[in-house]
Order: sequence, then C-alpha cells, then structure tokens
Amino acid sequence: MTDQSSRKLIIAIDGPAGAGKSTIASRLARKLGYINLESGAMYRALALKAIEWDISFEDEAALLKLAQNSRIQLEPSMGGNRVRLDGHDISSRIRERDVTEAASRVSVHPKVREWMVARQRELGIGGGVVMEGRDIGTKVFPDADLKIFLDADPVIREQRRLDQQQIKGPSAQDMAAELRERDLRDRTRVISPLVPANDAVILDSTSLSEDEVLRRAEALVRQRMESN
Ligand code: DC
Repeated sequence: MTDQSSRKLIIAIDGPAGAGKSTIASRLARKLGYINLESGAMYRALALKAIEWDISFEDEAALLKLAQNSRIQLEPSMGGNRVRLDGHDISSRIRERDVTEAASRVSVHPKVREWMVARQRELGIGGGVVMEGRDIGTKVFPDADLKIFLDADPVIREQRRLDQQQIKGPSAQDMAAELRERDLRDRTRVISPLVPANDAVILDSTSLSEDEVLRRAEALVRQRMESN
C-alpha cells in the first residue's frame, strides 16, 4: 500500500508501553514507504546522557542544558530506529532497564518536553512519517492526518514486555511493577500526560494479533488518503 498521493501524511501513534506501538509504527511505515520515528528513543537518549554525566533526573535546568548540548539522531531502519547520541550508536543500551526508568523521569519536565517537541516537529513536518510516542497526537502534531491511540489491557502489556525481553522469575515481578509505575507517571504528569487526542481512533490490541492491528491501521490510513 505505498502512498501514491502527492501529499505525504503525518500519522501519529500514541499509547502506553507494551501496547505494540513500535512494531505497528515500523510495519505501517514500511508498507507506506514512510519513515518511522520513535519519539521515546529521544527521551531515552537524553536519560542515558544524564546517567553518564551524573545529572539528577530532577534537575530540569541541567537536563535542558544537556539536551541543548547533545546530538540525538534517529535513523529509521528495518528493525526500528537506530539511535545515535553525539555520534555513538546507543540503540541497544537505551533499551536497558535503568535507561527505561530514567527516561520516564526526565520526560516529566516541561522545558525538556518543549525542547523534544520542537525537535520532533522538525523531523516530521515534511510528512511521510509515522511518529510514535505519548503526546504526538495531542502536542507534537495536533493537526496530524491520522491519530491512532493504541492501547491494551495492562496485564497483556506486561506479559508482552516480559516475553519480548525474555524475563522470567522474580525479576519478572519487578519489571511488571516498574511498568505499572512508569505508566502511572506517564499518565498523571502535569505536562502532556498520556491521553488520547479527542480525534484519535482508539485501537485496543488486547485480543488482536499484530497482523490484525496492522490491517486495521492500514484501513484507517486508506480512509484518510481517500478523503484527502
Ligand atoms: O516509548 P518509550 O517506552 O521508548 O518511551 C520512554 C519514555 O519516554 C516513556 O516512559 C515516556 C517518555 N515519552 C514521552 O514522554 N513522550 C513521548 N512522546 C515518548 C516517550
């Protein structure tokens, strides 16, 4: 379903961790010949730099300065985004647990978010992009052509994350607890909390296969293309 129309759409996919955003965004982008941008990877990159530079996750001014002095690059590839921080490939490192936790903490700060949102707009403004995150449809691209809010039952999301990272035993419980805590922080933060945009289509993937979610997302894209 390559997009043959002249105007390239901006597609926003938001939702909580473990709902399947990254997979769907990357598969959808591939089908359309679009690029897929994982906004969460940018928060993760900043979080990693804060860890490395021993900057407090609570220090908004220092985090903003750190962001301003960093080069965070997202490079779409077949298996999701490769991420570079100041020229170094940090794609695997940013998926680790300490960075995951830190990303959720650094992303609560309004000034950090403002900086990230501005960079994300620059990346997506030309269209032909599937951008995924938490606030893409509400804040980064409130005029996106299509907004999908991908959700799933929390127990299923936890299970998917554990399967993805092949975690079993007691650390599985810790990880599930961390995911719940992170979810709560993302949903209740003062600035740009995770909520569906008013005009988002809610897709609940609890009992759907990945292929089925993709099929529904493609159908939504087709509708938007036809109405353009
Ligand atoms: O999508 P992810 O799990 O890689 O995101 C990591 C953290 O970054 C997540 O806890 C919340 C934050 N985030 C955000 O606040 N806004 C976004 N658009 C994307 C991610």
